[in-house]
Amino acid sequence: MELYIDTANLDEIKQAHDMGVLDGVTTNPSLIAKEGVDYNKRITEICEVVRGPVSAEVIATEYDGMIAEGRVAAKIADNIVVKLPCTVDGLRACKTFADEGVKTNLTLCFQPLQAMMVAKAGAFLVSPFIGRIDDIAEDGMELIRQIRAIYDNFGFETKVLAASIRHPKHVVECALVGCDVVTVPFNVIQQFMQHPLTDNGLAKFLADYKKAFGGS
Ligand code: G3P
Repeated sequence: MELYIDTANLDEIKQAHDMGVLDGVTTNPSLIAKEGVDYNKRITEICEVVRGPVSAEVIATEYDGMIAEGRVAAKIADNIVVKLPCTVDGLRACKTFADEGVKTNLTLCFQPLQAMMVAKAGAFLVSPFIGRIDDIAEDGMELIRQIRAIYDNFGFETKVLAASIRHPKHVVECALVGCDVVTVPFNVIQQFMQHPLTDNGLAKFLADYKKAFGGS
């Protein structure tokens, strides 16, 4: 399963990249606003750190605006993925970009037919939002399972990118159901390699060694 980081914070991206297993980055207008930086400048900086897919989301909600913004974003670097919303305009823009060879990530996916439609339009990625579905007392993972089954039934090549990840269990479940990609906030990535038994075991190994052979 591919691992992307879901942030526009350059320090977090660099730290995750330094772990050696980061495959890509997703951003959105909220994440860029949180950083208080120029959108295209930050996307350029991210692309200088990460060579895998970097999603840059359009602000426009109408087809013409999406196409104009997406074309500007696509020129920033060759690993840009234009992020579009799962709306009818987003679907139309997705098809146009697919015909032009520009990769897209169709975001704000909350039901399986949105995922089927964007796959038919040639999306590179679809982003179902697990956490926000859980937030309204529904089952976000069920959406991932449904999309996986539909894509497998018909051989759609669009990658399922689970977004709105809130905790490591989401990531484990995504891996178990064959989700292609997860995009994860840095604070959750930091938990992936943590276990108290690892820490305790390491401390005991070192204490035993010191007891036998001395040293500080
Ligand atoms: O990639 C989409 C993600 O940023 C949404 O996450 O936590 O705002 O639901 P969240």
